[in-house]
Amino acid sequence: MKKNFFGKLFGLTLLMFTLLFTGASAETYEGTGLGYDKDGIVLDVEITNNKIVDVKVKRAKESEFATPAIQKIAKKVIATQSLDVDGVSGASLTSEGTKEAIEEAVKKSGVTLTAVTLQNTKAVELPKEADVVVIGAGGAGLTSAIAAHEKGAKVILIEKTELLGGNTNYATAGLNAAGTKIQEKLGIKDSPELFYEDTMKGGKNKNNKELVRVLVNNSSAIVDWLTERGADLSELTSTGGQSVKRTHRPTGGSAVGPNIVAALSKTAESEKIDIRKGTKAIALVKAKNKIVGVKVREVDGKEYTIKAKAVIVATGGFGANAKMVEKYNPKLKGFGSTNSPAIVGDGIIMVEKVGGALVDMSEIQTHPTVVHNKTNMITEAVRGEGAILVNRDGKRFIDELETRDVVSKAILSQKGKSAFLIFDEDIRTKLKAADGYVKKGFAVEGTLEEIAAKIGTDAKTLEATLNKYNEAVKNKADSEFNKKNLPKELTGTKYYAIEISPAVHHTMGGVHINTNAEVLGKNGRPIKGLYAAGEVTGGIHGANRIGGNAVADITIFGKIAGENAAIYSKSVK
Ligand code: FUM
Repeated sequence: MKKNFFGKLFGLTLLMFTLLFTGASAETYEGTGLGYDKDGIVLDVEITNNKIVDVKVKRAKESEFATPAIQKIAKKVIATQSLDVDGVSGASLTSEGTKEAIEEAVKKSGVTLTAVTLQNTKAVELPKEADVVVIGAGGAGLTSAIAAHEKGAKVILIEKTELLGGNTNYATAGLNAAGTKIQEKLGIKDSPELFYEDTMKGGKNKNNKELVRVLVNNSSAIVDWLTERGADLSELTSTGGQSVKRTHRPTGGSAVGPNIVAALSKTAESEKIDIRKGTKAIALVKAKNKIVGVKVREVDGKEYTIKAKAVIVATGGFGANAKMVEKYNPKLKGFGSTNSPAIVGDGIIMVEKVGGALVDMSEIQTHPTVVHNKTNMITEAVRGEGAILVNRDGKRFIDELETRDVVSKAILSQKGKSAFLIFDEDIRTKLKAADGYVKKGFAVEGTLEEIAAKIGTDAKTLEATLNKYNEAVKNKADSEFNKKNLPKELTGTKYYAIEISPAVHHTMGGVHINTNAEVLGKNGRPIKGLYAAGEVTGGIHGANRIGGNAVADITIFGKIAGENAAIYSKSVK
């Protein structure tokens, strides 16, 4: 906040000064850098009077949330007139790509930059006391912070990376909710009871029943709450293991996570919540059996303690911590992960240190369709729209909309331990996320014969597979795999195939909470002043999470944690 402000001010002053007093005309040069995406980052760099005065993002297919990282680096470069600036934590490839692009543009201009030494601005003294401190600004943390603030608490939200959103930035399919206005409008008959049954069945009845009840009973209301705060959840799709369409997503099928993160970030900023990026929680402070604060460390190494009446831990799971994954489930040794690199279980470790109980730690979900040998998840919504899976022989081998554990296992038992996701042009145009995958170069494309050749399978067999599947859709009966959800035939002249295999996606175990989102100690009693929400918690999803239930979980329990922490904080002297 403080550093950003001075950087912005400096950049703006520089621009105004240059234009007012030199009258020099600005020239724009294009630069390209290699980021996370193979097509790279393309920037327009404006140079006036031998100085960079503006950087605009021309193209960045990285992901929707990479733009803030690019802008952040650009601001630092403008302020210092140097490329020797730190990257944004959690976005190292994007950071490097941004610097490369600016460097290329500067080279084209022929200008030699003169580095500016920034005046040492007097550090702004930040408040070190709050009613509620929220750790982690992903979907759960942002929701908690807003809910606590709206209940009248003074909130500080800390985030160890420079980006808001955490793993929620990667959430794609949607948010599951039953009995919503949208379902009613579309004539879909659903109920919290049916949602409960699907969730319990998907989780192999290992789920914490009380938490599941809270999830299903609050699901319709959270759609309204998020919509009132700017999220777009106006379309429906379905994911594996659901009886009806209840996965709420943005118009046109774009990814749900970035949409919700943008809406919540804007809300938190407009509500003037104190958000501290680049601030990592290193320990919970406990005194006389209750939590009374958080010890934090800033990027520059400075440590301080924030005194708090209540603390909410919303740091996410541990899907990107390979060692922890292996410790709790050795069978997953060597698996890739779809998670943000920041999701390493630090909240779980901190809670354990103050006596919090953990549950279901070995329950770790793999997502079945992740680009083979990469970390990019291909949303279940592609299968929800009608895509099929075939093996190297060009044959289907499973009901594509079975739960994730079942589909993952089936893929791993195929030759090469991978499979191909096949979809048509209609799915690509209907689902923005699918279009994005094609643009990112994950798919091979062409006629059925051409894609058969490209994936190394027999064209006649692939054609027979599609014909048989289309017959099943027509007859509403899949005699091979008994698939119930048969949305559409695969038709037309253009098809796409993506090679996929499973990777670690969601850690279902974590901190033990009750229905008030209070963290429970090993004795089963709440630890006073300590709350948790989102993937850091365990128990709700049992042995297998249903796609679309995470976004519901993090927002519903985020709101509960925020409201209860605010109420509790008022009772603390
Ligand atoms: O497939 C997906 O889009 C993932 C959804 C989820 O994990 O809830």
